[in-house]
Amino acid sequence: MTAPMIHILNGPNLNLLGHREPEIYGTETLGDIAEACQALGAELGLDVLCRQTNHEGAMVEMIHEARERAQGIIINPAAYTHTSVAILDALQAFAGPVIEVHLSNIHKREAFRHHSYISRRADAVIAGCGGQGYLLALRRMAVLLG
Ligand code: DQA
Repeated sequence: MTAPMIHILNGPNLNLLGHREPEIYGTETLGDIAEACQALGAELGLDVLCRQTNHEGAMVEMIHEARERAQGIIINPAAYTHTSVAILDALQAFAGPVIEVHLSNIHKREAFRHHSYISRRADAVIAGCGGQGYLLALRRMAVLLG
């Protein structure tokens, strides 16, 4: 049997992880996180593809691609979490499990970060665990798809 494919999608400014506001987002780079996700994916029997974009339309297209190729989506839409009906709609058209991840605890921060359009579709939400949140999401994916 082929391993389920998980797409890990990251939104705007997350390419700057490790350099951007490390007191909030930590010192791990997105490359470090992707490497850790690949390693855990191999352990759990999941194929993992990590992608990042700074553009809303590109994120919508990545979700459309996931419809064809992935069994599950782990997504940190970054600032689009709080603004994007388009990303919510794209996720509504995805059949498999969706897990929303935030490095920081968005509920402990400014009021404008407290609402997530994405949570309406997400099967689980992980916030405030730093880069470890992606690993927790992968473990949950293994259970949901197992
Ligand atoms: C974030 C939280 C968002 O509010 C913010 O715009 C980000 C990152 C997080 O991972 O904590 O860019 O999604």
